[in-house]
Amino acid sequence: MNNIQDEFISTVSHELRTPLTSIRGFSQTLLNSWDKIKDEDKKKFIGIIEDQSNRLINLVENILSVSKMNTTNQVLKKVDINSSIEKLVPMFSGQYKTRNFITRLHKNLPEARLDEDKFQQVMTNLIDNAAKYSEDGQNVTITTGISENMISIKVQDEGVGIRKEDFTKVFQKFTRLENHLTSKTQGNGLGLYITKQIVEKMGGQITFQSEEKKGTIFEVRFPFYNQEEALKCSQLS
Ligand SMILES: Nc1ncnc2c1ncn2[C@@H]1O[C@H](COP(=O)(O)OP(=O)(O)OP(=O)(O)O)[C@@H](O)[C@H]1O
Ligand SMILES: [Mg+2]
Repeated sequence: MNNIQDEFISTVSHELRTPLTSIRGFSQTLLNSWDKIKDEDKKKFIGIIEDQSNRLINLVENILSVSKMNTTNQVLKKVDINSSIEKLVPMFSGQYKTRNFITRLHKNLPEARLDEDKFQQVMTNLIDNAAKYSEDGQNVTITTGISENMISIKVQDEGVGIRKEDFTKVFQKFTRLENHLTSKTQGNGLGLYITKQIVEKMGGQITFQSEEKKGTIFEVRFPFYNQEEALKCSQLS
């Protein structure tokens, strides 16, 4: 585990530099040449600063979840998955204004046994990918439900999809797959690697289905907080 952390820190410190350099460069340009820059360019530059800051925040959150993974004994608590998702989605609608975010939340969803911060990081990575690897006007649908005696959360997109031959690479660290959006979008190829680690550490599972040019569904499943009550409740609904 320590080796993973060492390797991580060296690779990731390098990844931190790129967005920081870009944020500093565009801020300096704006400050030094404010009067000379056209309004539309100002807007463009501030947009870049915002994008790069988002990238940085997500990278830092991912690094933190890896370093927290083995240093603290995790305490899993009762979490209301639906309201946790409802808190998260408005952030994405703000960041990806050209995607439609749809939530289909199961009405009597039992509580899950989780660490809510880590759950939010998992959802952030999955929703970010769904939005990033799809096109303007497409839907990103988040569905909660019960499946195989566990709580299930699906994040579905209508985007580029993943080729069959790449299926085995999806969860490898620092791996980005070839598609026409990879070069146009930002990423370190870390999100899904970390997501899988966090999910499994909390006793959950992660799977996906995908078809090239049709879209992708990632599904995560987590244990119920109270197995017996949850089963009764799922039979009623
Ligand atoms: N919903 C998706 N649709 C199509 N391809 C995807 C999807 N999610 C992930 N991928 C592919 O899997 C690769 C790995 O995903 P991952 O989230 O680990 O990395 P990233 O998004 O490129 O970077 P990061 O998450 O570190 O910012 C992506 O580069 C992309 O090629
Ligand atoms: Mg990602």
